Amino acid sequence: MPDKYSSVQSDGSILTSSEPVILVKDLYKSFGDNHVLNGFQMELYAGENLVIIGKSGSGKSVLIKCMVGLLEPDAGKLIILGKDITSLGREELDHLRTEIGFLFQGSALYDSMTVRENLEFPLRRHDNKIADASSETNLLIERALDDVGLKHTIDLMPNELSGGMKRRVALARTLILNPKVILYDEPTSGLDPITAKEIIELILEIQQQRKTASIIITHDMDCARVISNRMVILIDGINYVEGSYAELSKSTDPKVQAFFK
Ligand SMILES: Nc1ncnc2c1ncn2[C@@H]1O[C@H](COP(=O)(O)OP(=O)(O)OP(=O)(O)O)[C@@H](O)[C@H]1O
Ligand SMILES: [Mg+2]
Repeated sequence: MPDKYSSVQSDGSILTSSEPVILVKDLYKSFGDNHVLNGFQMELYAGENLVIIGKSGSGKSVLIKCMVGLLEPDAGKLIILGKDITSLGREELDHLRTEIGFLFQGSALYDSMTVRENLEFPLRRHDNKIADASSETNLLIERALDDVGLKHTIDLMPNELSGGMKRRVALARTLILNPKVILYDEPTSGLDPITAKEIIELILEIQQQRKTASIIITHDMDCARVISNRMVILIDGINYVEGSYAELSKSTDPKVQAFFK
């Protein structure tokens, strides 16, 4: 387990070490007859990197979309930074979203915008996080790009960047609002092994420097091994098993073993 700490929330409440940053309890989500989540449970603690693995189509993206309010669960509890996200009004949800960074599966930069404009976008959407002065906006953008080693790309268009650079710009866009929690959906998918390793190192640096708690969804077992403090395996809509990479890799359960082959 990583070191735990208390942190003061923007509304003044204190998140103690015993309180999870994210608590998911008995979560259910179906699309018609497709029962995707069937009572999923998990907790994410301050400062930890939690890796979630599961087969394609098992509901990993659905789970984190529920966490950011992009999908509404059918039943269950979803407490994020002490707030029950299913009962929040639009304004409160918008505010909570500024505390949660979400790296979408596949980066999703706006192709018609420069790198700078891509990074300005979340700042404009959540203007409670910035002052009016554009010099402050510039500073935030430059700092976020610097954090991912790409300050020199500020005036480039996405199509002038490599796949790995795009992923890092998307990460900078996630970091710019200084989130307390980061949700990474397949951060290394589609990248060559060397670039994937760079992204993995970046995620570890972010954890160490910013003390964020993160959920990382991945198919990449090298990524899971290096990055995770703890892992949860999603099978049949539930948290089938959890433990460290070392523990799970020694499991004799064929369903668990299948991920480590
Ligand atoms: N908006 C939606 N409407 C209807 N069905 C959906 C929707 N989103 C996801 N699903 C279904 O939910 C199931 C889980 O999808 P999800 O995207 O969470 O899988 P995943 O575990 O992230 O897979 P992958 O590893 O391929 O990304 C799939 O059967 C999918 O078709
Ligand atoms: Mg997915």
